[in-house]
Amino acid sequence: METYNLTVKPWCSCLLIGLLAMNAFLSFFAIAEIQYHEFVVQTTPVKRLCRTHNTITVNGQFPGPSLEVRNGDSLVIRVVNRVQYNVTLHWHGIRQLRNPWADGPSYVTQCPIQPGGTYTYRFTIINQEGTLWWHAHSEWLRATVYGALNIRPKLGSPYPFSLPKREYTLLLGEWFDRNPMDVLKLALFTGAAPNVSDAYTINGQPGDLYRCSSQETVIFPIDSGETVLFRIVNSALNQELYFSIANHQMTVVGVDAAYTKPFTTRVIMIGPGQTTNVLITGDQPPARYYIAARAYQTAMNAAFDNTTTTAILEYKSAPCSSKNGQSSRPILPQLPAYNNTAPSTAFTAGLKSPAQVNVPTAIDENLFFTVGLGLNNCTRPNSNRCQGPNGTRFTASINNVSFVLPRTNSLMQAYYQGVPGIFTTDFPPVPPIRFDYTGNVSRGLWQPVPGTKLYKLKYGSRVQIVFQDTNIVTTEDHPIHLHGYQFYVIGSGFGNFNPSTDTARFNFIDPPQRNTIGTPPGGWVAIRFVADNPGIWLLHCHIDSHLRWGLAMSFLVENGVGESQSVIPPPADLPQC
Ligand code: C2O
Repeated sequence: METYNLTVKPWCSCLLIGLLAMNAFLSFFAIAEIQYHEFVVQTTPVKRLCRTHNTITVNGQFPGPSLEVRNGDSLVIRVVNRVQYNVTLHWHGIRQLRNPWADGPSYVTQCPIQPGGTYTYRFTIINQEGTLWWHAHSEWLRATVYGALNIRPKLGSPYPFSLPKREYTLLLGEWFDRNPMDVLKLALFTGAAPNVSDAYTINGQPGDLYRCSSQETVIFPIDSGETVLFRIVNSALNQELYFSIANHQMTVVGVDAAYTKPFTTRVIMIGPGQTTNVLITGDQPPARYYIAARAYQTAMNAAFDNTTTTAILEYKSAPCSSKNGQSSRPILPQLPAYNNTAPSTAFTAGLKSPAQVNVPTAIDENLFFTVGLGLNNCTRPNSNRCQGPNGTRFTASINNVSFVLPRTNSLMQAYYQGVPGIFTTDFPPVPPIRFDYTGNVSRGLWQPVPGTKLYKLKYGSRVQIVFQDTNIVTTEDHPIHLHGYQFYVIGSGFGNFNPSTDTARFNFIDPPQRNTIGTPPGGWVAIRFVADNPGIWLLHCHIDSHLRWGLAMSFLVENGVGESQSVIPPPADLPQC
């Protein structure tokens, strides 16, 4: 297992001794273990694309440290903020049952950790297996502050496929050749779309196709005949990606933290926030093969990073001549054209749960959420603060509400302490006006209303949400992420959702379980879940520019009956605003 990161400080030594005793007790019975980590958020020089950048990292590592745990383990992660920005960390996909205090979105479940401050995240992994990840959840810090969170089965419990000898984690990222926080700052000033990234990366490295990068290209060794598990995470800030390996089939065995019915494919589409586990067999002639990722771009007339990141799958028995020197370039895989939606649709349609699952068949809450961009008109169009299309400023919304984070408190702290005036609970269950969502939308409907509106759910209610993409500004694939939950994706399609015909085609047998799902561009996607996790949970587009523009809302899931259905008390060190 992961090495213990024990920095015993007087403030915690008693606690640590207690926890260690409990840990020893638990590991004696091979039940679970408690891992301690210290994550220092700091500035570290990182050289990429020929230049050295002061980069915000965790413990000086980029990407950050991997958390390697088992289902049932507990994590205690003390975060120290040594940078000039407010920071929080989010454990993407961890359910955090009754424990929103450990979830992390800034101003939603906690006030941020201020410069010089610390906060200890404590949580237990309950009935989740697969690949998740962690990332900063404060402005654009997640551009460089992220890492893997790999969850293996409990000791003695098998994988639902034969155990590969080797596992590799591939974190796909986006690299900016400047401070990402400055990119965001500029965009928020001008109202225009933010500058796009300068490179995609695999485990922090752009790869052979970029300037000054070929020395550091990541190499994944494989033996002939061997099967390896790739844990692929899209940690990119703003971009869906296509991913492929030259000459090799991939067998998909899991997405987010859930297993899937195995199916083979040559290409996967992975949206920001999503993870995909695939098996690869070394069944090709011993050589070197490129692993590559590049944009799947659905927004029309929008700038995007059109570069390709690569790593190398290298057979150990590959002839030496092919291993050194430029003489033999590995073969590049065929990736779909950036604007080709068909491979994404085919890949998503292939995802199924391994066996019949327990989807709620009756629902208590029937929600219909329009998701998309918008444009705010300016009193002085074309001033330097109105550099969006035709002298406007970009915005985004769900059901015409553009989500605004509170500044003086977090939603969860305000709710728990009964502080009034921080939020309201009148988020609309359906859009205020019905229109032809994916048709030609009249300009009068392009400007949403800002608000900090939550939607209340009774504990245990069975919820359906249909996310409907709109053609406001552009249709687009929006990777929608729900905190605190793992939902079933029961259907999707193109055009406007039609309840009378589309509901009949829902999959109640073996839909996949996910925590992040994209709306097909100009289409809809339907999910179901049971609201069995009390607290305040953010729902948002995982394209960070859209999140910042307001493509978000929050659920307030009320406590049920008794302690076991109620939010636990907040930890004593929870930061205050
Ligand atoms: Cu991975 Cu709210 O985020």
